[in-house]
Amino acid sequence: MTTDNETYDIEAGTELTEPVTLTVNGVDHRLDLPGRRLLSDALRHDLRLTGTHVGCEHGVCGACTVLLDGQPVRSCLIFTATVQGCEITTVEGIGDDPAHPSAVQQAFIDSHALQCGFCTPGFITTIEAFLTDHPHPTAEEARAAVSGNLCRCTGYQNIVTAVCRAAELKHEAGGAEECAGCPWDGEQS
Ligand code: FES
Ligand code: FES
Repeated sequence: MTTDNETYDIEAGTELTEPVTLTVNGVDHRLDLPGRRLLSDALRHDLRLTGTHVGCEHGVCGACTVLLDGQPVRSCLIFTATVQGCEITTVEGIGDDPAHPSAVQQAFIDSHALQCGFCTPGFITTIEAFLTDHPHPTAEEARAAVSGNLCRCTGYQNIVTAVCRAAELKHEAGGAEECAGCPWDGEQS
């Protein structure tokens, strides 16, 4: 027996599921999910990609930010079934080897841009997308780029510095032009 909208099996006490196909970090997955499963929950609980963090669960903090076809989105606001056919990139897809961090991850290390680290995956994905479109940001542009993500620990200045440091690292690797007005001086305390 099911409810009128066919989402819940009352006798079994479970939500009904449907097959959902997802491409995450270049890998195709087929999952059986309730129609209202949030993307953040599918990533964390069904695919065990726990690098995506969940803070506010209503689109404010940015901790759950992932890339959807290269654009940063709040995965806590998206039903998983609606993003079939899209390319999803989590922080693990940007870099999951501590010995070989991505440019943005290395910039966070160089700039001391994290403390507890809870917010960091959301910043990493946000900045990765930003630098793709703005390879040589000013400090003001860097500040605006991270203004939608909340951090309770750092005071933000070192995160802004990390944006410019990441641009510099990408430039050194041949992937971006030089950063203009960058506050990174290579001697962060
Ligand atoms: S958990 Fe999604 S924006 Fe806060
Ligand atoms: S480093 Fe702790 S919330 Fe940002």
